Amino acid sequence: METLRHIVLFVHLIGFAVLFGAWAVQAFGGKREFTRLMSIGMTIAAVAGLALAAPWGLPEGAELNYAKIGTKLVVLLAISAVLGIGTARQKRGDGVPAAMFWLVGILTAANVAIATIWR
Ligand code: HEM
Repeated sequence: METLRHIVLFVHLIGFAVLFGAWAVQAFGGKREFTRLMSIGMTIAAVAGLALAAPWGLPEGAELNYAKIGTKLVVLLAISAVLGIGTARQKRGDGVPAAMFWLVGILTAANVAIATIWR
């Protein structure tokens, strides 16, 4: 079970890498638009993250930090709202406001900070 949990963590990190990588490509030299790859990466990170939020496959005595996990979930919901609203605007031809575009990168980085620094 512990190995399976590590595999789900691997999938979670791939999802994060796809989301942040797709965003970084747009931020540095791209058109600063939202892309399908960002939504795909976010969905992978969300599904695997929710699976990791349940207490299974943990080493003896280890506990989950639910305050931290809950905060990450709230941040992820904010990312999905911004991505959803921005993508809809883009489809209408209005374009993504710069603030919304940067917010997705900042919120994703915030979730990595929460994941790695909050113990
Ligand atoms: C864009 C959104 C997210 C990003 C960038 C992200 C990033 C990360 C990273 C970098 C790790 C590895 C940290 C480590 O093992 O020390 C991690 C682990 C984990 N994440 Fe996420 N995550 C996101 C969303 C979520 C969501 C929505 C949940 C659950 C509701 C979640 C739950 C977890 C859990 C349970 C772990 C296992 C390690 C731990 O307990 O801290 N993540 N995440």
